[in-house]
Parts: sequence; C-alpha cells; structure tokens
Amino acid sequence: MTYAVREELKPAGLNGISDAQINDHWNLYVGYVNQTNALKTELETLRKEGKGATPAYADRRRRFGFEMNGMVLHEYYFGNLKSSVADSAAAEFKKVVTEKWGSFDAWKEDFVNTGKSRSIGWAVCAMDPLTGDVNNHFIQLHEEGNVAGYHPVLVMDVWEHAYMVDHKAGGRPDYISAFFSNVNWTVVEHRLKDAMQKTASKRH
Ligand SMILES: [Fe+2]
Repeated sequence: MTYAVREELKPAGLNGISDAQINDHWNLYVGYVNQTNALKTELETLRKEGKGATPAYADRRRRFGFEMNGMVLHEYYFGNLKSSVADSAAAEFKKVVTEKWGSFDAWKEDFVNTGKSRSIGWAVCAMDPLTGDVNNHFIQLHEEGNVAGYHPVLVMDVWEHAYMVDHKAGGRPDYISAFFSNVNWTVVEHRLKDAMQKTASKRH
C-alpha cells in the first residue's frame, strides 16, 4: 500500500500559530509521506535484488523508521490542533490525569517541560492501553523514545520548524503557550477513550 496525505487534518485559523507557519510545516509533513512511500518501494526493490542483508539495506530500513514516525506523528499533531476548544471537552482525560498526576495543572506543567527539552523532537502524552497508565514522553527526532503499543493522546511538535515562521529560534516557550490555546480537546478525549477501549486510534 501507499500512504496518502491526510488533507482533512490540516488546521487553519489558529491562535498564535499563523496559517503561513502551518502551510510551511504542512509541506514538510507531505515530504514525510512521500519519503515513506519511496522507501517502501526502495526496500522492496533491494529485497528483490537479493540485497536484503546488506549494510545499505539496513541503513535504509533505519531511515524508514525516521520517515514513517515523522509521517505518523505529524498526523497526530495536526489532528490535535483547533482554535478555542475548551478543555472541558476533555472531561475524562482531565479525570484520568488528575488521578495519576494529582491535578490537571501538574500534568500540564510536566507536558510543557517535556516540550522544553533541549533537543529537537516531540512531547507526547500517551496511554498504555494495557494498564491505563498515562505518561509524558520526549521523542527525539521522530523515532527515539516512542513506546511500542502506547496510544498517543496529545502530540506537540517541538522541532524548530514548528515555530520558526512565527517566532525565532528562542521562541519555543511562546510557541508552547500558543499550542495550548489550540488544543483540540475533543480529539484528545476521543483518543483517550479509544485507548481505554483498546480500539485503534484513527490518528485524528
Ligand atoms: Fe514537524
């Protein structure tokens, strides 16, 4: 199969994250979709040529993880952006993180600090569908730090390309503040309930 760009996930009219910023960022996401498809084809070709055990193949397979996680995480990210959705839309999510973190604000403070990690990458709040545990994870690049089988519930891109159009290189804290005024809490709630019901997330 080949992957298609998920046009329905593209946000617009956000608070403090301009459409120009989103457009630039979206083009990078399109690149990840294209590279994922190209690598699938390239790996298949190399296997057919009997090169599946070569160092070159192994390198391309590592790249496959980078590109594919880049594609998937961007879909979660764009899918959880919408302006002016009240966090009251995520009643179950707030209840769960309050139980596990003491308060919604304590969870949020940790998620913000996760996003301020001194590296390019991602802040991801994810639920373990087996135990119901909810944790914040820092994903370096796109592929280092993802927990297998966990359901991402809230995903925030903190590569500099996510905010360089609107802010300079030091603008990550302002971007993170803007991000939190654009969380689509309805989507967060759906993802959490999917995880609790052990249903595959639609990555919306
Ligand atoms: Fe990105």
